[in-house]
This record gives sequence, C-alpha cells and structure tokens, in this order.
Amino acid sequence: MSGRTMPVTPWPLRSGSAPLSVLYYTGVSALAAECFVGMKLKNIAEVKNIKGKRVLVRLDCNVPLRGGKIIDDFKITRSLPTIRYLLKKGGRVIIMSHLGRPRGVDKHLSLRPVQRHLEKLLGQKIEFVPLARIKRPETFNRMKPGDVALLENIRFLAGEEKNDVSLAKQLARTADLFVLDGFAVAHRPAASVVGVTKYLPSYAGLLLASEIAALAKIMAKPRRPLVIILGGAKPETKIPVLEYFLSKADAVLLGGTVAAEYFTALSQGQSVFAPALVSKVRRGCRAGKIIVPVDVVAGAADGARAGLMPAAEYLKKIQGGKFRGKMYDIGPATTQMFASYIKRARTIIWNGAMGKFEVPVYGHATKAIAHLFAARSQGQAFGVCGGGETVAVIRSLGLLGDIDLVSTGGGAMLEFLSGKKLPGLAVLQKK
Ligand code: 3PG
Repeated sequence: MSGRTMPVTPWPLRSGSAPLSVLYYTGVSALAAECFVGMKLKNIAEVKNIKGKRVLVRLDCNVPLRGGKIIDDFKITRSLPTIRYLLKKGGRVIIMSHLGRPRGVDKHLSLRPVQRHLEKLLGQKIEFVPLARIKRPETFNRMKPGDVALLENIRFLAGEEKNDVSLAKQLARTADLFVLDGFAVAHRPAASVVGVTKYLPSYAGLLLASEIAALAKIMAKPRRPLVIILGGAKPETKIPVLEYFLSKADAVLLGGTVAAEYFTALSQGQSVFAPALVSKVRRGCRAGKIIVPVDVVAGAADGARAGLMPAAEYLKKIQGGKFRGKMYDIGPATTQMFASYIKRARTIIWNGAMGKFEVPVYGHATKAIAHLFAARSQGQAFGVCGGGETVAVIRSLGLLGDIDLVSTGGGAMLEFLSGKKLPGLAVLQKK
C-alpha cells in the first residue's frame, strides 16, 4: 500500500483466454480421481473386496464447537458418502481425526461431541476408542461388518504431528486398509495422514478424490479473469502462496489478517510478511494485480472503539506505535473496489473472511463480499471457496447452494491450488 488511492475500475478483460471446460461440482463421484489432471490417486472405489475388512479412515472433523456442541458440521457431512460406501460394502470402519491444536490431552478438544453427532447422522451406534486402547487389537478385531468406531483426538498423542514411525505402525495395526478422506489435512505430514500409508494399502476416499479432480480442472484452465480473494485468520498459511497466485491470477484481493499483516510489515512492525515479499506485493499493487484496502475498520478486538479510517491514516497510526487497536475489517470503499473486480471475474477463488466477522461491527464487508461472490457464481463465473470460516459465513447466509465448488480444504486448498505437492496426496499417487 503506497498510500495513494487505488483505481476503482479494474483491469481490462483479457481477450483470447481459454474457456473453462464445463465443470459443475456434483458432489461425490467415485471415479473422480480419474479426471485429475496430472496426478492419479488410488481410489477406494477401485478396491474389489472390502467385505469384512477393517478400514482406517482419516477424516477432518476439525469443526467449530460451542459449549461442547458442534456449530458447523459441513466437513463431517461431506465425508458421509465415503463412510456409507464402506459400510455398504461390508467394511468395519475405524474413523480418526484431530480437533484443534492441543498440546497434550485437553478435555475441551475431545472428539466425544463428534461421536454423538456422527451417531445421529449415521443412525447407528459408534464405539468411542480412547487412545490407550489403540494398542489392543481385540478392540478392532471384535468389530463386525457395518460397525463404526471413532478414535479420540489423534493430536493428543505427541507422535501425530511429528509423523512418528511407531505411532504410524500402531495405527496401521488396527486395520487392513487406509483411506484419507479429509482434504483439509492433506498438507500435514502427520502420522495419521502420511506415516500410516507406509504400512497399509492406502486410498483416497470419495470426497477427497472428487475435490482434487474438480480443483485440478479449474486450475488447469481457469476462465479469465481469475480473481483470488484472500483473507481470514492463519495468515502464515496464506502469505506463502501469495507469490504463486500473483503469477497465476489476474487480480488478488487482500483482506482479513493477510491485509493487516501487510500493513504491519509496511509500518516496520513484526509481520508474517518477509521483506522480499513486501516489495513484490508493492510491485503487484503498482501493476494493479494486487488490490489492498484503501480504508479499514480498526479498533479493539471485541469491537470497542471501532472506527472507519483511510488505510493511509491507519498506516500512520500504527507507525507511530501509539494506536491501541488493529485493523479488523476492510472498509466500504475497499468493499466497493473489490466488488468491481468480482463483478467482472470469470473464475473466483475465495479463502478467508475480510474481517473478524463474529464481532458484528467487523462483519459488514465479509457479508457483502459473500453476497457478491455468490451472485457472480450463479452462471457468470465459476466460484470456488474453502476454509472453515469462509464456508461458515456462506452457510450462515444461506448461499451454499449458489457456489459451484465449496471445498472442505482451507490451507490445503490454497497449497494445492498454488501447485504445491501435498504430502498426503503424494503417498496416494498411482505409480
Ligand atoms: C483445517 O481446519 O484447516 C484443518 O483441520 C487443518 O488444521 P490445522 O491447520 O490445525 O492443521
């Protein structure tokens, strides 16, 4: 952000760009991995005999909870077809997942609420397995075809995130086959995602296969202009992919903590943005490819003292080091500017809220962008979104059905779209 006002009129439309081959996300397709451009995944739908087999399924049940209750079960429900498929084929299904980022055992992050919720969704009893019991084979051997068990939060074990070999072997001993269906964890080189595949025949689940197929097609031939909207929390997962998107997209719109981190970097504060990247973003801004906020809503995290100000003023305030607040939303002029890009896009990828939307005073821009994105996705552009909070906003506004592809992946989706080889996919690749 150079302090000057950014143009409201977006770039001229490129001529001669390739049309997007018609692709509408139809939910789960068993053969979707076959369509995957450049990489073919081993798909559970290709396994002939599942009857009586113990199938260890890694899901992403990392869902938001309030008072011990699941408030958004999107990621869980999207994996139901895989679970039901395995049960129909006579498999014995052992589900594992993480929840949150615990350091050791944390009762607030137990998967018990997921067990209760899954029982309702599947209409059957699910055995809850405390992690101490994964060493006892009888726990899984006595399961019958059609039975389902759920392991406690796998991140309670220190070996999970370290991709510990002995944990991977222990997990593998519980089953005959392994299935990864949680796309949102495919970028994590963990024992339950990558390690276990060394010791069991391993496959992509139906959801994972279909998401990869759809995303790969979009990136192979995006209809232009391609606009990427980046915001939300976890800026450390978004900023590294920014550089790649700069070369691929026609415009990258920055909001949420990504924009906030950029302003912090410009003010010489401690930021996730490395100095080299700041220069690239500056160049991107000058070229009209990166669009940063021209006004922001800043104040305390809980909404106190929230006020609208031009971005240049915000920058000055944080440079002075005396400002007792932070940017928690983009302002109306920025929203209008972003709208002008969204309204002309032919492919839109959105990951991350524009502000701290759960605090009402910081929620306006996210809602406005969600409506614009959904409206444009109805036939005018191919709309793709992913990430927990982005999907939660879209869902809460009743717009889910308007979006062409709603991915269960957040950071994983961005890494995949940026051309990175995800460790959880690499191990499922067909030779
Ligand atoms: C997600 O919610 O994006 C996934 O569950 C990954 O979670 P993580 O960033 O804690 O690994």
